[in-house]
Amino acid sequence: MTLQIIVGAQWGDEGKGRIVDWFAAQADFSARYNGGDNAGHTVTVGSQIFKLHLIPSGIIHPKVIAVMGNGMVVNPCTLIDEMEILRQAGISISPERLRLSYAAHLITPAHQALDRALDARRGRGNIGTTGRGIGPAYTDKASRRGLRLADMLAPDFCERIVDHVVEANRTLSMLAAPELDPRPVCEQYREVAGRLKPYLADTAFELHTALGMGKTVLAEGAQGTLLDIDFGTYPFVTSSSTTAPGALTGLGLGLDAARGARVIGVVKAFQTRVGSGPFPTEVFEDLAMRLRGTGEHPWDEYGTTTGRPRRVGWLDGVLLKYAIRINGISDLAVTKLDVLSGWESLRLCTAYRHAGKDLREPRGGAFTDLPFGPADLSPYEPVYEELPGWREDVSAVRKWADLPPAAKTYLERLEGLAGVPVRLVSVGPEREQVVSCP
Ligand code: GDP
Ligand code: IMO
Ligand code: MG
Repeated sequence: MTLQIIVGAQWGDEGKGRIVDWFAAQADFSARYNGGDNAGHTVTVGSQIFKLHLIPSGIIHPKVIAVMGNGMVVNPCTLIDEMEILRQAGISISPERLRLSYAAHLITPAHQALDRALDARRGRGNIGTTGRGIGPAYTDKASRRGLRLADMLAPDFCERIVDHVVEANRTLSMLAAPELDPRPVCEQYREVAGRLKPYLADTAFELHTALGMGKTVLAEGAQGTLLDIDFGTYPFVTSSSTTAPGALTGLGLGLDAARGARVIGVVKAFQTRVGSGPFPTEVFEDLAMRLRGTGEHPWDEYGTTTGRPRRVGWLDGVLLKYAIRINGISDLAVTKLDVLSGWESLRLCTAYRHAGKDLREPRGGAFTDLPFGPADLSPYEPVYEELPGWREDVSAVRKWADLPPAAKTYLERLEGLAGVPVRLVSVGPEREQVVSCP
């Protein structure tokens, strides 16, 4: 059995979609295990740019079966739209190719309204959520009053929707936010339920069976390690388990599936984050403009889901090391190396300094750890190593040997910090713009 877990090693938007697309060429199943349409995963194939919010990125490969696992929260209207967009782009979408866990939770307009009202009430301490209703949907799940996809089959589905909206209205009214009329929500959800019913399945059973038959399952994480509800920069996180162990619970797989699993950590060659929260290596002004780009390229650092400019900074080796441990990352895929071409020199954060001392092992070796995780990074100052940059455009490079020496040095230093091998380097958004490492 082969399970490969693709996980973001930073704050999301590392390029997971394009790395999933790369591995999906050799996979049978592509399965999302967490989050909802807060995610935006981009896959570029020739002139086609696919922006996937809910459907796993492996769907672009015709022989792959896409699975949306029980760990997800699903806005069924976004899903229907996404299915239609993909169909129009020539991708076949049918119940044979797209399987939805009966146990995934539904997102409704009431969740979206609550998300926006609650984040607005946080004022200056807001999280800057995507407003997609993610937090309130997971809150309902944990409170044991959520609506699951299987509820769409219930004869009283409409009444359940009405009860849910009435309940949400109580909170909206306390927040002085506009209340919702439950009737149109009920009508709309009745209609989408009819269209999605054929796709519902016991996906945990199907994936278990497939793994038992020796099939390859790619588990696709959404968001990134530092946005994980337990291990991220709490409370500036999302509401799901984004990390690799979340793939097991989010897909309904047992520990036997983890035996021999590869965990591929996707790491951008620099650091970005959307929304609020700590970011020790963040840069501003001219430097930030240069890393972010103007927006003229599709890959410039503006959110795939919200269009917000992403905050940018130097690669944080301390947080990368943390992500390696929390996920059990076995291999790294480094993305956007091409964006670093043309810099005189580059900075890499190799340690943090706290109260005048570097957080390193006594012999000056690898960084040890953050005493209480990354939630409060305010006491720390990044310690940088300056590395030479390279002028050459690397976007046409396909072999490690053809990379400029300074680019190899940068990747080797990154690998040294991480303590796991860099297996892939992407040098552009296109499917083939990948360097396989020796
Ligand atoms: P995800 O959420 O982790 O899947 O990442 P996003 O799709 O939100 O953001 C990554 C962006 O960078 C997308 O526009 C990708 O097409 C683009 N991208 C991915 N890898 C590379 C790369 O190696 N070079 C460049 N220039 N763009 C890339
Ligand atoms: P992908 O899968 C980057 C961020 C939001 C916000 C915080 C909480 O494309 O990498 P939420 O709406 O989830 O309650 O917002 O998490 N966030 C992401 N940032 N990439 C994502 O997904 C994100 N999904 C959520 O900006 O700071
Ligand atoms: Mg994204």
